[in-house]
Amino acid sequence: MFDSLDKVRADAQARLERAARDRRSPMHTPVIATGDADARVMVLRAFDPWTLRFHTDARAPKVGVIEADPRVGVLFYDKAEKVQIRVQGQARIERDSAVAQAAWEAGNNFARRCYLGDGPGTVAQTASSGLPPQFEGPEPSDEELIPAREHFAVLLVELTRLDWFHLAHDGHCRAQFDLAQGTARWVTP
Ligand SMILES: Cc1cc2nc3c(=O)[nH]c(=O)nc-3n(C[C@H](O)[C@H](O)[C@H](O)COP(=O)(O)O)c2cc1C
Repeated sequence: MFDSLDKVRADAQARLERAARDRRSPMHTPVIATGDADARVMVLRAFDPWTLRFHTDARAPKVGVIEADPRVGVLFYDKAEKVQIRVQGQARIERDSAVAQAAWEAGNNFARRCYLGDGPGTVAQTASSGLPPQFEGPEPSDEELIPAREHFAVLLVELTRLDWFHLAHDGHCRAQFDLAQGTARWVTP
């Protein structure tokens, strides 16, 4: 598929750029693994080489986990194209930064509504969205969403390593990049 490490790096960058802007991309919803051996699906909101941006409820359990141990791994997989991208990096949670505020302002009121209810993982008596009943259906107003802002945060992951793997009948192919050092190498699959 590729004959140079530079081309593989460019392919990885293009795939992550598309993953962030195209909700139909199979890489739009990667799996984020944290240092407590837990993992979950999140929507990739932005990618600026080599930083990933995700959105989270500031009360979610993963926020405390990341603040105690900023190492994260992120797994992307495109089944149709048979490409896996594994990345590792240093994560940070931002609640009040310019990036967090801009991300909040870029959302619509339906997206912001998620931050009005109980925090993720709150125990409920019955199956529950956690939203106050008056917001189950309708879109809240700007004013009603004011209390939601303090529950919103961004998760930024500065990538340090990337592992690219392509499955192919005529031979799988794999390359690794140390993004911090700027080095690259081929490895066996
Ligand atoms: C398709 C899909 C997209 C999701 N997107 C997000 C997201 O962008 N941000 C987020 O915090 N959780 C998202 N979730 C929910 C998480 O997978 C997870 O259940 C939640 O964040 C609580 O995680 P925690 O207990 O590890 O904090 C998504 C789940 C699915 C299935």
